[in-house]
Amino acid sequence: MNTHPTSVIGQSTRRVTGPLKVSGQATYAAEFSKDFGDELAHAVIVNAFAASGRITSIDIAEAEAASGVIRVFTHENAPELPYKEPLMRPQVQPQVGDPLRPLQTDQIYFSGQAVAVVVAESLEEAEHAATLVRVHVDETPADTDLHAARQRPLAEEKQDTPRVSAPKKPAENAKMTGRPADVTVGDPDAAFESAAHTVDLEIEVKTLVNNPIEPHATIAWWEGSHLTVHDKNQWVDNARKKLALAFGIREQEIDLKVDALNKAKDAVEDALGVEESSVRVVSPFTGGGFGSGLRTWPHTFLAALAARELERPVRLVLSRQQMFNSVGHRPHNVNRVRLGADADGRLQSVIHEAWQETSVYEEYTMNLLNTTRMAYATSNLRTTYRLVPLNVQSPTSMRAPGEASGAHALELSMDALAYEIGMDPLELRRRNNSTHDVQGTPFSSKHLAEAYDLGAERIGWADRTMAPRSMRDGDDLIGLGVSSAFYPANRLKASASARLRPDGTAQIHSASSDMGPGTYVSMTMVAADTLGLPMEKVEFALGDSDFPHAPVHGGSMTMASVGPAVKAACEAAVQSAIKVAVDDDASPLAGAKASDVRLEHGELIGPGGREPLMDVVKRHGESIEATASSGPNKLQMLMPSDYAFHSYGCVFARVRVDSRTGEPRVEKVVAVNDVGKVINPKTAASQTIGGVVMGIGMALMEEAVLDPVYHRYANDSFAEYHVVTNRDAPEIEAHFVGEPDYKLNPLGARGVGEIATVGTSSAVVNALYHATGVRALDLPATLDKFL
Ligand code: MOS
Repeated sequence: MNTHPTSVIGQSTRRVTGPLKVSGQATYAAEFSKDFGDELAHAVIVNAFAASGRITSIDIAEAEAASGVIRVFTHENAPELPYKEPLMRPQVQPQVGDPLRPLQTDQIYFSGQAVAVVVAESLEEAEHAATLVRVHVDETPADTDLHAARQRPLAEEKQDTPRVSAPKKPAENAKMTGRPADVTVGDPDAAFESAAHTVDLEIEVKTLVNNPIEPHATIAWWEGSHLTVHDKNQWVDNARKKLALAFGIREQEIDLKVDALNKAKDAVEDALGVEESSVRVVSPFTGGGFGSGLRTWPHTFLAALAARELERPVRLVLSRQQMFNSVGHRPHNVNRVRLGADADGRLQSVIHEAWQETSVYEEYTMNLLNTTRMAYATSNLRTTYRLVPLNVQSPTSMRAPGEASGAHALELSMDALAYEIGMDPLELRRRNNSTHDVQGTPFSSKHLAEAYDLGAERIGWADRTMAPRSMRDGDDLIGLGVSSAFYPANRLKASASARLRPDGTAQIHSASSDMGPGTYVSMTMVAADTLGLPMEKVEFALGDSDFPHAPVHGGSMTMASVGPAVKAACEAAVQSAIKVAVDDDASPLAGAKASDVRLEHGELIGPGGREPLMDVVKRHGESIEATASSGPNKLQMLMPSDYAFHSYGCVFARVRVDSRTGEPRVEKVVAVNDVGKVINPKTAASQTIGGVVMGIGMALMEEAVLDPVYHRYANDSFAEYHVVTNRDAPEIEAHFVGEPDYKLNPLGARGVGEIATVGTSSAVVNALYHATGVRALDLPATLDKFL
């Protein structure tokens, strides 16, 4: 790596976008409206109230007659769209089933489904007219009860009740760290029966919503057949391709597996004979995402459809209420975990069975059992995964999708096992710390033991007394809890361009995203480091599908994927500059062999002399550019490898429970993670603190409550769906241990975003058990559970 003593890599660095954000100059999707003036039309979605059935008619006469209304679209009058959907199912989308094609069907799958769009001259007029649309539905019984539905027989066992099933998509990788599947190693049942100590718990995680500060929003407009969209998302390339296929802009079959994205782009443009792409998606700022921006949701298609039909730019912003039913959620799941250990606490058997809701139209699966399959050493293990289709929207990835729920269940069970044995819960985890995954593949770089040491010291674990309710402060019960945390380390091919400009600045582009972690600043740091330039001479831009391809801004892999691409593009641009220099008689490097010239601290150094890199560009008089790619064509976890790549950490929580009211409060959290090289400690710590806050919300407050009669979320507002506020957030320490993981990528970084939220909910619930003697097996752990 081109680091030198003054390298910015590894130094806490402020966000380059900070001033724009705090001064309101950062432009989020809906804010591009000022570019359009009065031409802009406003769209508002009408949602179904019924949860299941068929629309018999939609009465739009009154709405269309209302002030300012331009048009009301329903499935009865909307043009049919091609939706070449099956051709392109990127990995974050469900692999089985059919995505919702809004206004293309009369079927109702869940309450809150988009069934009409009102477009008016103003937002207020559109909102009013939306209340005048009458939707008539021939209702059929809806089912939203996971507990009742999961008791039914497996679909393959009893064909006439095809309700509960194993995911149809099998495991994609032999290492079992990828897609969920039923897995058995050894003889877990016999080992469980003969174990000296056992626990058998059923642990439930309720529906949680991705509900970032910025609601999802789209502004779409057409110039002939060219569609441009300002859209809030985490993946402009995906939105671009989804829109292209939905509208049939590109008809030919495209292999849109991630490895073919760049090739597909070229093939499409060749086949259509167009120079420019037909769809451009622009999303420079994303006000939070947590996974809701991975897919392209119905509202984006609807905005584009209305814009095409009306030949006007259309803006569609989801309301906070609509956010609860439009952009996915973390699915309700139930986990039965059985652990068996010998007298020394060594795990003899691990059995984790999970049931998770999905929608009736798609199989959404997540990495619910990943952690159980790699967290601790054991020779006997079984995981099973059952999907239960219910009348809910398709769930989606939400920060550490799967891990946050599955690891919660595992870590509560580990705590219970420690008490069963009478062993310190931290000691139990140390004793089962493994160097290999369950299939014997060694971990690439693991420093979990150090994390345990540092976390224990920072929380004061040594002063903890083992017995529940043994630590008090006046009327308050005090508890200390611990949890391990794990998250797979991934990497995918990404591309970037680097342009060295005669004015001494460098411009780097990649179609990545920054939903908050600080992609802008971390990529600027990588480029500045590689080029030997000060940060302020480097401008990094993202969020434009016309930029070189970047993979999904999710899965904690942006740093590990886009970072190496930025580095590679900068190195390629330097090589181009070297060629210019050695051919330039005015350069001290003139006549040298290009391969004899190297860059050091921003200077090109050759056998005959040296010259600042940017002086070469200045004399050249025009920009020197290069584009480069880096990374594997498939997710790293699916590639054959001698190593299993993960991040590791632990979370310690200290809680205080009022013994009179049962009210739980988190006093302090210490999170220690081994995520390989930390590129920017400041933003990495910020991500960790945010993840901890989210984990506290999961532990104590958050739950989307399904009304059993109307089958819709009864608390679809922030007044009733409680998230952690500043007052609820405790003192949080974020620490990092470990070393660069160069086996994963040339930067050695494994990503921080998702492990940051794994482990907190379980550490808090374990601490609450220590404080109260009550183990909260279903979340959220509200005060009534401790009375
Ligand atoms: Mo994340 S759930 O991969 O945005």
